[in-house]
Amino acid sequence: MVAVIIPAAGSGSRLGGLPKQMRLLGDAPMLLHTAQVFDRHPAVSCLVVVGPPKNLDLIEGMLTSLKKPYQVVAGGATRQKSVQAGLKAVSDSTSIVLIHDAARPFVSAQIITKVIESTEIAGAAAVAMPVTDTVRYGEEGSFTNTISRDELYAMQTPQGFKYDLLQQAFCQAEGVSQATDDVALMGHIGQPVRIVEGDRWNVKITTQSDWEWAQQVWEKRA
Ligand code: C5P
Repeated sequence: MVAVIIPAAGSGSRLGGLPKQMRLLGDAPMLLHTAQVFDRHPAVSCLVVVGPPKNLDLIEGMLTSLKKPYQVVAGGATRQKSVQAGLKAVSDSTSIVLIHDAARPFVSAQIITKVIESTEIAGAAAVAMPVTDTVRYGEEGSFTNTISRDELYAMQTPQGFKYDLLQQAFCQAEGVSQATDDVALMGHIGQPVRIVEGDRWNVKITTQSDWEWAQQVWEKRA
């Protein structure tokens, strides 16, 4: 059984106003578009959506058209705490847990399939894009060191883990880590994570210009 946790409890403060995942993208909230990709995927059995504690009723109302079983649970102050809250709601008969940011509505079914297949083989797998821009540190308005981009990847989601490995990683990380993704937690238990090459559409809608781009893409698709 494959379950997906969708962390959607961020404040969206970089965009201001209503959290971005609850805003309308075309005819539906971005969160619903993201959840629907997993709802339609034949290998996914159920969904756990993690929302801001004060917006749980609003989120429940947004998701009523989903066909598969789903739960809405309250998130925490950090992404890691929100994913952990989602994991508590996942049944222990689950074999694979996928974690996917609510803010990536353009994820494809093909990528989800590849992550599930790689997780079955390797125990853990995550979508990433090789870095093509030059990467450099900066401090107080000026650049400092340049680092080689040869072995660098920009992480995306979904990230997939065997259920037992994810449980173990969260136990080890408790109180010592504030990871911005779940691959970071695998480091605590020495578990290698297989790379699944992503695509450029699987953008995390973060800034105002991302939001405007997402609206244009959505209009063209409709
Ligand atoms: O903040 P960031 O862009 O890394 O957020 C990635 C995803 O994690 C978003 O979908 C956001 O809603 C979610 N998140 C969460 N709980 C938090 C912070 C972020 O579920 N406390």
